[in-house]
Amino acid sequence: MIKKINFIVSGFFLLWLIIAAIPPNQNNGIKASIQRGEKVYNKVCLPCHMADGGGVPNMNPPLIQTSYVLGNKTTLISIVLHGMTDRVAIDGDYYSNNMAPHNDLTDQQIADVLTFIRNSFGNKASAVIPSEVKAIRQKN
Ligand code: HEC
Repeated sequence: MIKKINFIVSGFFLLWLIIAAIPPNQNNGIKASIQRGEKVYNKVCLPCHMADGGGVPNMNPPLIQTSYVLGNKTTLISIVLHGMTDRVAIDGDYYSNNMAPHNDLTDQQIADVLTFIRNSFGNKASAVIPSEVKAIRQKN
């Protein structure tokens, strides 16, 4: 009996040791998302927003430290899903081109590309996850 309890207890201890030894993979999750997002960016967004995220003056806005990129995720996700033709000032400047909707991208692709831009070009902001994209896609 004692042997059995001993066996169970040491079993749990071993299990705990294994779990404690695995590094938290949250960072790996973000890293992988950024890597996938870069591919989406290069294919879909780069022609307008450029490789360095600098955009084209008066035509396509930069993605460097803008209030949209770093700000409210709902607005940011909506811009990719629905495009942007508002012609509003983006941190003080106006841009003449139109951004088409990109709702052909999957929730995962949009989450990845936004996580990529929020953590590239000198930006640092939290990740966007597919369920957040899904929720906003379903609202419309
Ligand atoms: C056809 C060119 C074009 C493509 C492709 C494009 N955009 Fe845009 N984007 C624009 C323009 C132009 C605006 C501003 C529109 C306005 O002022 O009404 C804009 C606005 C934005 C904004 C908000 C303003 C800012 O600079 O912070 C974000 C964020 C953004 N785009 C991200 C993306 C992402 C991510 C992709 C790829 C999935 C993408 N865009 C693809 C042209 C483009």
